[in-house]
Amino acid sequence: MSMIQAPRGTFDVLPPDAARRAVLQSHAERILGAAGYRRIETPTFESTELFARGVGEATDIVQKEMYSFDDDGGRSLTLRPEGTAPVCRAYLEHGMHKLPQPVKLWYLSSFFRTEAPQRGRYRQFWQVGAEAIGAATPETDAELIMLLAELLQALGAKGIRLRLSSLGTPETRAAYRDELTSFLRAHEDGLAPEVVARIDLNPMRAFDAGDATTRETMRDAPTLLERLAGEDVEHFTRVRELLDDQDLAYELDPTLVRGLDYYTRTVYEFTSDTLGAQSGVGGGGRYDGLMEQLGGPATPASGWAAGIERILLAAPDPPIAPQPVDLFVVLAGPGAGRPGFGLVQAARRAGLGAQLELAGRSLKGQLRQGDRLGARYVAIIGDEPLISLKDMESGEQIEVEPQTVVPTILRGSRLA
Ligand code: HAM
Repeated sequence: MSMIQAPRGTFDVLPPDAARRAVLQSHAERILGAAGYRRIETPTFESTELFARGVGEATDIVQKEMYSFDDDGGRSLTLRPEGTAPVCRAYLEHGMHKLPQPVKLWYLSSFFRTEAPQRGRYRQFWQVGAEAIGAATPETDAELIMLLAELLQALGAKGIRLRLSSLGTPETRAAYRDELTSFLRAHEDGLAPEVVARIDLNPMRAFDAGDATTRETMRDAPTLLERLAGEDVEHFTRVRELLDDQDLAYELDPTLVRGLDYYTRTVYEFTSDTLGAQSGVGGGGRYDGLMEQLGGPATPASGWAAGIERILLAAPDPPIAPQPVDLFVVLAGPGAGRPGFGLVQAARRAGLGAQLELAGRSLKGQLRQGDRLGARYVAIIGDEPLISLKDMESGEQIEVEPQTVVPTILRGSRLA
């Protein structure tokens, strides 16, 4: 009998790979959690209509790449090809518009597309994604971009580049499409035959053509970015200013097209030079029209998703996420054990990362240990009623009452 193998385009996650995925997840939890994103999981399959309406009837994903089947009752279901439409459905279904906005959610789940498998492209793959729903500001877009950049950097992903653009409103886009189509028709002589053949289907593809003649012709083609107007321009300018302020490098790419229909305004893609053909590590953008598309009230939103397999190809050995140590307690006298133990418990109850000397080190050894752990503060408890609290960043040391140690750290770490 022949052996049964995993279906084409799928893979087993064996222990070494599972360990790397766990490291990735802990970084995502830390970075997204610190920015106020909370985890959500939605079902593996949804009504086919959700993706047809959400992702867009005309997209490759809906046209060619969905695993769809009928259930017992003849309803068409689809293994989720992406996470944004399901998260929006859940937002509407659970009345999350009643919560303080924006509702910031993140997920780490598997998705399914019947694409031709190759390195970095699978039929079942995992994404980590973040969505901020109910916020229209450019700060939301910039914050999301910074979060993905931070995640990729924390994981040590190599050769990362960011491409950024804005699509404006659907109206701007439609007018631009007409203008570009007319341009291409008027310059058919300077275009490769396969580009001419696709003019009506997808005029934007002409920007991606490899041959020299087409490239030369396309240099004079109008770009969508040049056609943005009014608030679209203001929004995009602000996103760029915020990223510039943070020294986050990006390339403006007016030809950036994403494979999903729901985008408005800001769009972006992170790529890695180490990945070859499937270089897209993660991408996203603003999708202000999607909620209405799904039958809900107009709700601005923005988000991204990044492929776990591609991140791990670009960052094969992600470093273990550091656990921040806000306080290290040094025991400097025979009576210090009990108050020291109590102080660490109180600090942990207040949400601080706190550690106590447990190995019986000398005073000098304890101070060195606090330093090695990267502790933000060290509290030295002797036999005196007051505790010495040292700010390890500034080197400043103050004497405080035992009960003021935790509030001082909480205040200090907020100021920092
Ligand atoms: P997407 O660009 O289709 O966006 O997918 C995001 C990432 O998922 C890609 O950059 C890639 O790393 C990974 N990916 C996609 N398809 C495959 C595949 N067949 N095999 C392996 N990895 C793959 C979305 O899915 C949007 N929902 C992103 C978003 C969230 N936009 C707004 N919010």
